[in-house]
Amino acid sequence: AKEVEENLRSPICCIMGHVDSGKTKLLDCIRGTNVQEGEAGVITQQISATYFPAENIRERTKELRAGAKLKLSGLLVIDTPGHESFTNLWSRGSNLCDFSIPVVDIMCGLEPQTLESLNLLRRRNVKFVVALNKVRLLVILLACVWYSLLSLMYGIKPPNFRWIRYVGGKKSKNAPLLKTMKQQSRDVVNEFNMRVDHVKTQFQEQGINCMLYYKNKEMEETICIVPTSAIRSQIFFGEGIPDPLMLLVLWAQKTMVEKLTYVDKVQCTVLEVKVIESHGITVDVVLLNGVLREADQIVVCGSQGPIVTTIRSLLTPYPMNETRVKGTYMAHREVKAAQGIKIAAPGLEHAIAGTTLHVIGPNEDMEEAKKNAMED
Ligand code: GTP
Ligand code: MG
Ligand code: NA
Repeated sequence: AKEVEENLRSPICCIMGHVDSGKTKLLDCIRGTNVQEGEAGVITQQISATYFPAENIRERTKELRAGAKLKLSGLLVIDTPGHESFTNLWSRGSNLCDFSIPVVDIMCGLEPQTLESLNLLRRRNVKFVVALNKVRLLVILLACVWYSLLSLMYGIKPPNFRWIRYVGGKKSKNAPLLKTMKQQSRDVVNEFNMRVDHVKTQFQEQGINCMLYYKNKEMEETICIVPTSAIRSQIFFGEGIPDPLMLLVLWAQKTMVEKLTYVDKVQCTVLEVKVIESHGITVDVVLLNGVLREADQIVVCGSQGPIVTTIRSLLTPYPMNETRVKGTYMAHREVKAAQGIKIAAPGLEHAIAGTTLHVIGPNEDMEEAKKNAMED
C-alpha cells in the first residue's frame, strides 16, 4: 500500500463560478495573500495555478480530519475568471482538473456563468463540491435589520462594528463551519437555512441534488454544499475555509486512486503566454503528469507553425503563491507533476495558450512530434 501512496500525483482543482462570487478572495484567504485587491477593476482576467503542499493542507484541516490520514503530496488549485468574456478559460480549466469548486454567492444564488460552468463540469463528468460563499454578509445584513428595528423602537445611535458583532455574529478565526454555526443566534441560523434551501431548489431545477455537506451521507449521488466566508477583517474571518479543502482531498485519495496514479508520460497544457522582466517570453503551463527537465526539447503549437525549442529555465512561484504573481520564482532542474510552472525558452512568442506542450524523447521523430503539436 505504501508504494501506491507514494505514486499518487497531486490532484488538480479548478475554482469556477459567476463574476465576483469570491473565487479569488477565497484563494487569498487560504494562501494568506492579497491577489484579489491588486486586480485591475477587481476582475480576474487570466487563469492561474497555486500549489498547496501537503503540510499546509494538514495544518489547515487538522481540526476537521479527526485523525484521518492525508496521503496526497499536495493540491494544485486553478483560479479562473468569472466574467463571461473568458468562457474559453473555463473550458481550459475544466479540461485540466480532477475536481472542481464552483463558488456561489449566497446572496445571489445560481447565476448564469455558474450555470455555464456547471454544464461544462457535467459534460466532462468532473466531480465537484459547491462553495456557498459570503455567509458573513448574511450576518451583517441581519444585523442591519435588527439595528433598524431597534433604532425605530428605542432611538439607538448608529451601529459600530463591535455592536454588529454582538448582535449579528460571533467570530471564529479559520474555524470549521459547524463550530461557527453553533455560536450564531437563531435568526442568523434561520436566515441561513432559508438561503441554503433556495440554492438547493435552484440546483434541483438543473437536475442536481445537493445538500449541506455535514448532512450528506451519499457523496457519490448528492453534491455537497460547503458554506464559506472569504473576508477577513476586524469582524470577518475566513470561515468554513478548511471544510471544502478537507472534503475534496479526502474524497480524492479515497475514490480517485487510479486517476491520480502518477504516470511518466508527460502531459502538459499551456495556460498563458507572457513576457516577464528578466526572463523574456515565458509560458505558464500546468504539468498534469510526468517530469519536465531543464534542457528538455519541447514542441508547442504556434500561430505560425510548430515551435521547437529547449527549456532554458523551469520556474515555480513559492508554494502558496500563484503563477501570475510577479516577483521571485524558484528555479528547478526538474519538476514533477502535478504543478503549475513558468517555462522560459527562446522562440515562444507565437505559442498558443490552451494547447498541449510535447516533450521530444531521444528516440522520437521530430516531424511526427511537430505534426502532433499542430493538431491542437
Ligand atoms: P472574478 O474573478 O472577477 O470573477 O471575481 P471572483 O469570483 O474572483 O470574486 P473576488 O474574489 O474578486 O471578490 C469579489 C468581491 O466580493 C470583492 O469585493 C470581495 O471582497 C467580495 N467578497 C468575496 N468573498 C466574500 C465574502 O465571503 N464575504 C463578503 N462579504 N464579501 C466577499
Ligand atoms: Mg477572481
Ligand atoms: Na472579481
